[in-house]
Parts: sequence; C-alpha cells; structure tokens
Amino acid sequence: MSKIPVIVLLGPPGSGKGTQAKELQDSHPGWVHVSTGNLFRAEISSGSALGLSVKDILARGELVSDDVTNKVFESQVLKILDTTKVDALVLDGYPRTRGQSVYLIGLVARESRLGRPVPVELKVSEAEVVGRLAGRWVNPRTGRVYHERLNPPKKAGICDDDGQMLAQRSDDKPDVIRSRYKLYIEQRDGIVEGLQAGDRLVGIQGEGPLDQVSIRLEKVVGELQKGA
Ligand code: AP5
Ligand code: MG
Repeated sequence: MSKIPVIVLLGPPGSGKGTQAKELQDSHPGWVHVSTGNLFRAEISSGSALGLSVKDILARGELVSDDVTNKVFESQVLKILDTTKVDALVLDGYPRTRGQSVYLIGLVARESRLGRPVPVELKVSEAEVVGRLAGRWVNPRTGRVYHERLNPPKKAGICDDDGQMLAQRSDDKPDVIRSRYKLYIEQRDGIVEGLQAGDRLVGIQGEGPLDQVSIRLEKVVGELQKGA
C-alpha cells in the first residue's frame, strides 16, 4: 500500500501557509489541511480547558509547549486517518521547533500509513508580512483567510463559504507580528535540521499574486512527491 504524503509548509507568519494549504485542499480531493494554529483557536473559541491554557500564549505570539502541541497534533492526525479517506496531509504551522520536527519524524516512523515529510518553504520579507497581516480577516469558525485589499471576500466582512462574520486575530498587532517573525527566524534552522530534510528542502518565492504563488507551489509539490 502506498504511503500518504506529508507536505510540510514552512514560512514565517503571513507567508501564506494557511491560504496555500486551503488552496491545495480545495484543488485536490483527499488532501487534508492540518493547522495547529486553527486547532488552538478552535479550542479557545470553545472555552475548553486547553483553550484557556493557551489563549494568552497565542495573543502574545509565543509558542505553545512542544508537549502540548505534539499531543494536539498527533491526536488530530490520527483522527483524520481513522475517519477520512486521505490522499495527502498538508501541514501548516507544524512543526515549529526542532523538537516538533523530531517528534514528526518519530510519528511517521511509528505510523505506517504516513510517508516521509516533504518540506516546502514560502519565502516572504518582514515588510511584506507586516503589511499582509495588518489587513488579514479570518472566518473564526473555519479558519478561512482573506485580506481586505489583496484577497477580499465577495461581500466585505462576510465569508464567501458560509456567511460567517469575519474577525481579526488577536496576534495581528504590529509589535506581536514582528516578534512572531523573529521567532520563526530563530527556530527555522532547527526545524529544518530536525526534519532531516537535507537538500530536499525547497524554497519558493511567496511574494506576488496569490495564483502565481499557487502555481509555483503546485509545481514543486508535484515534483517533490515523486521523489518522496
Ligand atoms: P498560526 O496560526 O500557525 O500562525 P502563523 O504561523 O504565525 O502564521 P499565520 O497564520 O499568521 O500566517 P500564514 O502563513 O498562515 O499566512 P496566511 O495564509 O494567513 O499560529 C498562531 C499561534 O498559535 C502561534 O503564534 C503559536 O502561539 C500557536 N501555535 C500554532 N502552531 C504552533 C506550534 N506548532 N507550536 C507552538 N505553538 C503553535 O496569509 C496572511 C495574509 O496574507 C492573509 O490576509 C492572506 O489573504 C494574505 N496573503 C496570502 N498570500 C498572499 C499573496 N501571495 N499576496 C498577497 N496577500 C497574500
Ligand atoms: Mg495561518
């Protein structure tokens, strides 16, 4: 039986991981987008004990502990594998530290259905990130992402999918955006080393029109999957 490819989207906050992961999911039946950020925000919205324990960490733009994150991530992945017909997983925001990368490598070794992680990094400058995130609006129920100018919904303030009112994220404030960007730059080499990606890591230009980034990503993902 062939293994399920695990595509890992790396990149700083605002590089378009969520936008492109949703695009990949929508254009490939059976591809499933897994975002630890969306999972934590759903817990916060539900008022669960986990949500309460991570709420302030997210608002400050700091990282949730590896222990908590690895558990949340693994249980979501196993639930998806056990309940859905999956042709590929698209990871967005995980792994985020060297420790999480090592955990992911261990998980795919233990879980025979999963293939070796295939990392792709979206490259975007700090200035671009700050501009993008200041104008970001999100569907709080599904996590679908818009930009008020660069990627607007059909009707201002309303999600195209389900009519839900859009909201801004508590961590999309300029000082928090800058510290999240810095954190990614600090963690980045450890994440890549932990993934044992070697020269399989491919970087793509994440700036420019959304559809052009999607085309670049599709091309790279197609080629990487062949070699995975
Ligand atoms: P998370 O939700 O993962 O946030 P992030 O990594 O900071 O990334 P963002 O969601 O801000 O950006 P994105 O790359 O998805 O960009 P998007 O597509 O939205 O994590 C949030 C928090 O949760 C963390 O800070 C941490 O506290 C916690 N957490 C999550 N995972 C964790 C983990 N593994 N370990 C520990 N803690 C964890 O795009 C941004 C904007 O740009 C949008 O408005 C979009 O419309 C627009 N846009 C996208 N592409 C383009 C383009 N090509 N041109 C113009 N605009 C574009
Ligand atoms: Mg995101």
